[in-house]
Amino acid sequence: MNHGFETLAIHAGQDPEARTGAVIPPIYQTSTYAQDAVGAPRQGYEYSRSGNPTRDALQECLAALEGGAIGLAFASGLAAEDALLRTVCKPGDHVVIPDDAYGGTYRLFAKVAERWGLAYTPAKVSDVDAVRAAIRPGATRIVWLETPTNPLLGIADIAALAAVAHDAGALLVVDNTFASPYLQQPIAFGADVVVHSTTKYVGGHSDVVGGALVAADRTLGEELRYHQNAMGAVNGPFDAWLTLRGIKTLGVRMDRHCDNAERIAAYLDGHAKVAQVIYPGLPSHPGHEVATKQMRRFGGMISFRAAGGEEYAVEICNRAKLFVLAESLGGVESLIEHPGRMTHASAAGSPLEVPGDLVRLSVGIETVDDLLADLEQALG
Ligand SMILES: Cc1ncc(COP(=O)(O)O)c(C=O)c1O
Repeated sequence: MNHGFETLAIHAGQDPEARTGAVIPPIYQTSTYAQDAVGAPRQGYEYSRSGNPTRDALQECLAALEGGAIGLAFASGLAAEDALLRTVCKPGDHVVIPDDAYGGTYRLFAKVAERWGLAYTPAKVSDVDAVRAAIRPGATRIVWLETPTNPLLGIADIAALAAVAHDAGALLVVDNTFASPYLQQPIAFGADVVVHSTTKYVGGHSDVVGGALVAADRTLGEELRYHQNAMGAVNGPFDAWLTLRGIKTLGVRMDRHCDNAERIAAYLDGHAKVAQVIYPGLPSHPGHEVATKQMRRFGGMISFRAAGGEEYAVEICNRAKLFVLAESLGGVESLIEHPGRMTHASAAGSPLEVPGDLVRLSVGIETVDDLLADLEQALG
């Protein structure tokens, strides 16, 4: 379908249902399907781990939004990552990962995949030379990026790193959770696979956990589809339906997330009790230029370092009212958290440990003046 983003979000994979004309894809809450004869399943549907029409609708829509050949929906972002690693890598292989990756992604590499023989090297993905230096020729199978990273909002140059990865015979994988496909489409810059925690902006309402892979290439996409079924961590029909419902408003939500985040970043930037504001939309951000090249706008995530140190950062989080103290991000409601003690606690003591004075905001789409007033009182 050759349409604009918002049209694809509402229509890709979501034609009115053939039998009744239902405008919204039904929730096919079934585990199995009647077959017309032995070996003759209707339209290929035989069992819902292998295929489910509600999940198919979501998968087709995700592929269209990312400009990829095949989309696949999983039970969570980490389930998607696990399926990708075990499809593409084997014992003895090596992966380059961001040195400030999401804590759960780091844990997957450090505590799970490494035991099975997959080596990894954390590298500063905002530094192209550092990524090139981390590659082990012949062994590196994946260069894995987040951009923006979680929680330090580092920006990686997708096009430059695609060239570095491809020169080494490796795949470029981009976790696009923080940007969403509305703000950034990594495949257009050379990525081979896009990863999402659809729990975040894609779903957008903090009511469903899910993950996705979108492959640029059909052959790799089919290998991933085989593993999705063989490993089994699929997205359930109701979860797929909720995620699709969220996707319909992704464009308008992202624009409001960005409007609000820009106002809040500007407010924090001038605040005496804030030592540093980290937001790719600020010209002071070291990745601002690259972000401008590859992102439509700069997203709804802001991190800042509290001038009073770790205990003060914790106090700010505890004092916030409208900003709900919670992990996760990307929903319509604003959230605040202390990464060092919450989302990234699993990285404590590792090279991926985050600063103790760091506060992370997921700026929602509420009335921005109310959000500013809440931050004012929380900063004290
Ligand atoms: C950037 C990023 N990638 C992956 C994940 C993992 O996704 P899930 O929690 O859906 O398993 C998260 C979760 O916070 C994340 O922030």
